[in-house]
Amino acid sequence: MTQVYFNGQWVAPEAAKVSVFDRGFLFGDGVYEVIPAFGRRLFGAVPHLDRLTRSLHEIGIENPLSRQAWLDVLARLVADCATDDVSIYIQVTRGAPAKRDHAYPNPPVAPTVLASASPLQPVSPTVLKSGARAITVPDLRWGRCDIKSVNLLPNIMARQQAVAAGAAEAILVREGMALEGAASNLFAVIDEDLITAPLGVHILGGVTRQALLDLIQRDRLIPVVETPIPIDRLFDAQEVFVTSSTRDLLPITRINEHVVGDGKPGEVWQRLSAAFAAYKREVSQ
Ligand SMILES: Cc1ncc(COP(=O)(O)O)c(C=O)c1O
Repeated sequence: MTQVYFNGQWVAPEAAKVSVFDRGFLFGDGVYEVIPAFGRRLFGAVPHLDRLTRSLHEIGIENPLSRQAWLDVLARLVADCATDDVSIYIQVTRGAPAKRDHAYPNPPVAPTVLASASPLQPVSPTVLKSGARAITVPDLRWGRCDIKSVNLLPNIMARQQAVAAGAAEAILVREGMALEGAASNLFAVIDEDLITAPLGVHILGGVTRQALLDLIQRDRLIPVVETPIPIDRLFDAQEVFVTSSTRDLLPITRINEHVVGDGKPGEVWQRLSAAFAAYKREVSQ
């Protein structure tokens, strides 16, 4: 079994033990990242590590590893994984002080650090051919969705509702605006534009979202408007897709009882996902 990186050591997963006083366990006081590798080459390692640093900074935890140390950990996890496509999970919590107290421990204690790898399952060709279903749910999350916190209760409840409805994703709606998925960013093609919610406290700034926007800008692929999408406009969009590190650009062809466009993954999605696949090969390391 592939070893995990745990608090500075490489150990078997069953040997990595977290204290019952760990603040990640008690409070969900920690942050995480999911970093993909395709053909054993990391995609977006730098922006993912930048986002980790930012999440840690926002909650007042010092980054426990230097950039190079993180890259070394990622390289070893990718090399040791049983499959060529890999999903790396990183979690850092505020550690395990002796006493449970809401306030941050003062002085700080050592953070708990985990990095592990698992095989990355590609989205099935059948789903890519027909498109996936989504449902809309109220966004019950907190006011700092830009922090990649391990507090995922609203996200997992939303995703569970989607699974129960036979859907692949739940689209989170706040004050009539469709913002993002439970674990993805949201894009809609409306008239001639590609629309996605702007960065801010109500969405997580997805690495895939940004990579796609950078590629679109570089190659002038389609006009982009960064604005929240009113829910009725989403239902009437020509195309809808969601993006994430593990599912790339996933076409959505049904939302609740609405058929999106002609019910098939659209021309813009096909064009962008082909361009994105090529871009990934170009920039992966
Ligand atoms: C709430 C949320 N939005 C967006 C994303 C997509 O982010 P990324 O493209 O960095 O995987 C995720 C990924 O888990 C997420 O949890």
